[in-house]
Amino acid sequence: AASGPLAGKKVIVTAGGTVERIDPVRYISNDSSGKMGFALARAARAMGAEVTLIAARTDEKPPQDPDIKVVRVESAQEMYEAVAGRWKACDILIKAAAVADYRPKQSAPSKIKKSGETMTLELVKTTDILESLGKMKDKQFLIGFAAETGNAEAFAKDKLVRKNLDLIVANDVAAEGAGFGTDTNIVSIYGAEGLVLDLPLVSKDEVARRLLGLAAERIAGAAL
Ligand code: PMT
Repeated sequence: AASGPLAGKKVIVTAGGTVERIDPVRYISNDSSGKMGFALARAARAMGAEVTLIAARTDEKPPQDPDIKVVRVESAQEMYEAVAGRWKACDILIKAAAVADYRPKQSAPSKIKKSGETMTLELVKTTDILESLGKMKDKQFLIGFAAETGNAEAFAKDKLVRKNLDLIVANDVAAEGAGFGTDTNIVSIYGAEGLVLDLPLVSKDEVARRLLGLAAERIAGAAL
């Protein structure tokens, strides 16, 4: 059996950007490369956890580790179903994925043809995965990410409370070397008590190790 501070824990990590189809050849997505989520999956595994990585569109292939179970999804709805179906057995959920807040109301079954000078796309809200699961929380330790472009602290704290999270990782995605696509990140981690850890520019691997270290500590503390 695996050893380490997360041995015996079931960890779910989501990564990448969801794809919301307009038609079979077009979609709405975002710049998430999957790197932050992949780093988290690797770090959780190295700490002994049983890891499921739920990956939407990513730039690179997910880790090729036989001990990391990879589930590919496309849309926010598919990601929701993949996470919700594994929720009861889950000990730690980390939502590093960039999930679309809106999707096209209709996804056309065949390629939309060019016609008028303008075209209107009607969007509807997606399910907020974290918020839905936050409402069904019992033993699970829930970690969210907040991608902000300013005022990160206030927005992150609001998300922590609204989504019933144990920790939230705020990254200012407008800062050089942080956020989407990079191998590094700059984060501030908040808990219910306020700021827990400020990390300067470090690798996403280092962010992952420090974040999971905090989660392991808090879970062990709660079990005493
Ligand atoms: O993939 P990389 O290129 O490495 O980039 C990493 C990252 C910038 C994508 C990552 O560090 C990050 O910040 N991920 C969260 C991006 C995001 O969607 O933030 P948000 O503030 O919109 O959402 C807050 C939280 O709610 C997130 O944990 C998100 O997964 C979750 N959410 C959002 C919408 C939704 N419908 N369901 C959700 O669960």
